[in-house]
Amino acid sequence: MSPEPDTASGESKVPRQLWEGRFDHGPADALMALSVSLAFDKRLFPDDIEGSRAHVRGLLRAGILDADEERAILMALDQVGQELVDGSFEFTPTDEDIHTAIERRVTEIAGATGAKLHTGRSRNDQVALDLRIFSKREILGVVERILALQQALLDRADDAGDAYLPGYTHLQRAQPVLLSHHLLAHGWALARDTDRLFDCRGRLDVSPLGAGALAGSSLDLSPELVAEELGFAGVFDNSLDAVSDRDFVAELVFAVTLCAVHLSRLGEEVIIWATEEFGFIALPDEYSTGSSMLPQKKNPDIGELVRGKSGRLIGNLAGLLATLKALPLAYNRDLQEDKEPLFDSLDQVNLSLTALTGLLRSVSFDTERMQAAADIPEVAATDLAEHLVAGGMPFREAHALVGALVAESQREGVPLEELVEDHGDLGLPALGLLQQGVAVRRRRTRGGGGPEAFGEQRARFTEVLDRDRARWSSLARGL
Ligand code: ARG
Repeated sequence: MSPEPDTASGESKVPRQLWEGRFDHGPADALMALSVSLAFDKRLFPDDIEGSRAHVRGLLRAGILDADEERAILMALDQVGQELVDGSFEFTPTDEDIHTAIERRVTEIAGATGAKLHTGRSRNDQVALDLRIFSKREILGVVERILALQQALLDRADDAGDAYLPGYTHLQRAQPVLLSHHLLAHGWALARDTDRLFDCRGRLDVSPLGAGALAGSSLDLSPELVAEELGFAGVFDNSLDAVSDRDFVAELVFAVTLCAVHLSRLGEEVIIWATEEFGFIALPDEYSTGSSMLPQKKNPDIGELVRGKSGRLIGNLAGLLATLKALPLAYNRDLQEDKEPLFDSLDQVNLSLTALTGLLRSVSFDTERMQAAADIPEVAATDLAEHLVAGGMPFREAHALVGALVAESQREGVPLEELVEDHGDLGLPALGLLQQGVAVRRRRTRGGGGPEAFGEQRARFTEVLDRDRARWSSLARGL
């Protein structure tokens, strides 16, 4: 339990602190209330225990613990871990954070031997270590969800076959594209998110353990061996940097924020496509909500929540960077403010990814409506201009000619088809371009919106997906 201050100031009855030797008085309730981070850093407990186990083995190697002492502390750590898992761990009001709580309990269990656990270590290198172990694992959790969403997009793209819809610029119908092409556009943005997360994981894979409070240790400890034992790819080179570096938190929050921004764009399209005005999708009951007052409503709340949460993540990122700005070396307590934005951003992006994946898997596409929207002849205007270009006309001239025909059609209320058929430079061959489904098939250059190009794109997308799955599996095996 976190301590509840019973008065706004004054001394707590808390008997002991980690630093009691230097102090005549315990902390004021107001200080404890401000200082306590247990409520949110509790979730670091598996990482704290893992880090402590490696540290204890290092203390044995350094001759600070003998084999019996090492075994006693490791067993106490096991017991504490078990208590934290099964919920029997009893927190006390002096448990300022998870590190304090675990050390306190180890000492209760292992007595004077337990009191040797913190030798040569500070909470400064300890918390940096915990957060890196945590981040390495959490990144894989986010990537796993991204991969599931990408697979859902690919499956729906495959279901869509040759269905097409208008592609938009400025939210105005522009040129027809395959629905599968549109869906994979989101898939590629997610592939970059995965890439960024793997990159970030590679850079943060550096152990800070052994940096101590800020300057390393006089004891015969080996930062390299504990790093290796913990499965880190590297070890710090500068102890001041090791305890004050939160670049990895900022990078990770940025990576998931950009992912959330991508999800907000997908969410926004779900919202627009579900409107009666568009009518491109029908929302499944399980993934939409009703109105408490309006009986006819079916609302795209998932899209809206995902869109809204991206704002929250942007706020977390901005807040974190503001916390880091201008901090002098090395550790400062401000750094405790790194955890809530990180935890919240991870939690929110995970919720968003899972909900959007479920929605996407069960939404139904009204491909007739999509195609009807794409089959208006104006959507093929670029093809008319390109047809003229193929006959040798400069593009600017062709553009002006077709633009004038579209304007005339709208002004006079004459179907564009008639004007095209009657035009000397266009005529019957050009009329064929306005037929349903023709324009989309003509987008055949690499990465284009037609079926031939899509086949190649699909092959490259599955390659990327397979590569990322393999990267995920090999990293997950190393956990
Ligand atoms: N709860 C602290 C944090 O998250 C742990 C480190 C405390 N270090 C200190 N020197 N007071 O940053």
